[in-house]
Amino acid sequence: MNILGIESSCDDTAASVLTEAGVLSNVIASQSIHIQFGGIVPELASRAHHQSISQTVDQALSEAGISIEDIDGIAVTQGPGLMGSLLVGLSFAKGLALNYGITLIGVNHMDAHIYANAIEHKLEYPFIALTVSGGHTQLTKISAPFQHEIIGKTRDDAAGEAFDKIGKILGLAYPAGPKIDALAKDGNPAFKKFPQGLVHEGLDFSFSGLKTSVLYYLQDLAPYEIQQHLPDICASVSEAITEVLVKKLDRAMDEHGISRAVIAGGVSANSMLRDKIDELSKEKSVTIYTPSMAFCTDNGAMIAQTGALLFQHVYSTKKPAELLAEGLRLHPYAGQPSS
Ligand code: KG4
Ligand code: ZN
Repeated sequence: MNILGIESSCDDTAASVLTEAGVLSNVIASQSIHIQFGGIVPELASRAHHQSISQTVDQALSEAGISIEDIDGIAVTQGPGLMGSLLVGLSFAKGLALNYGITLIGVNHMDAHIYANAIEHKLEYPFIALTVSGGHTQLTKISAPFQHEIIGKTRDDAAGEAFDKIGKILGLAYPAGPKIDALAKDGNPAFKKFPQGLVHEGLDFSFSGLKTSVLYYLQDLAPYEIQQHLPDICASVSEAITEVLVKKLDRAMDEHGISRAVIAGGVSANSMLRDKIDELSKEKSVTIYTPSMAFCTDNGAMIAQTGALLFQHVYSTKKPAELLAEGLRLHPYAGQPSS
């Protein structure tokens, strides 16, 4: 199947073409407009999606050397995300599907982060997914394709949100996660021991205490001291966040007796996290996949890949009414009336 993936849930307009030969294009139009506000302004995000979606999809098709007539399925993010932003991608995808008689496949954004790992690896079930993005931090047990059970989640901030909020306190531009990561490479992770929320307890996460602790710590330092030790502070913050993430994943795998896992979402691009995951895999002889950098943060390829898997495992085996009853949206525009 040739799948066009479209993603517009947050501040990246993305499109990708996936065929049996693999990912042929993965185009991302990122929105710089939000930097001046230190965070995403939903209305501006939907306007920017509106401006770039057509061009982004065109570019994805032309880079892949494929025409829209040769696309068999359009996979599009149906949620979770910003309502206005989602609507732009969904409406565009629906229009294309309707016009060209192509099946439309609604994709859950969080599932897509997880199945981004299927682009480069053959996933075997069951496995545990650690999903760490700007809006979510969760541990999921995946027994079979699209059979998910959330076994741990954050009680307050998400890991990416913690990076971004702490970065804002440090004066770093949004999104601060990649900037903290870069600065941390020259710093000492043991410089300051910040709290590791709920580290000894269960599979849930908590990062708001860390944020407050960094705020109080910085209040006692002179601006020149903060500047002088910025890499050390960034490394210590990264240590606190990534250590908890890895310990919880380790605990989840132990408690559920599962020796396979994947890391997913924007924070899976973090170099300290990736190093710790490598160490854990070696130490415990477990298999943990990490997506390539291009598939960590929001992208269209993960939507296309999940669309392909949905089509293979779910849509082709159920009737539209059953899918709707399960909250899945199949728009069989390719001829059949929807029921
Ligand atoms: O998955 P994603 O692109 O969007 C959401 O679905 O939220 O994740 C974005 C989040 C942001 O909070 C960003 O700061 C964080 O991922 N992030 C990172 C890194 N790259 C992106 N955090 C830490 N280190 C990174 N290298
Ligand atoms: Zn995301």
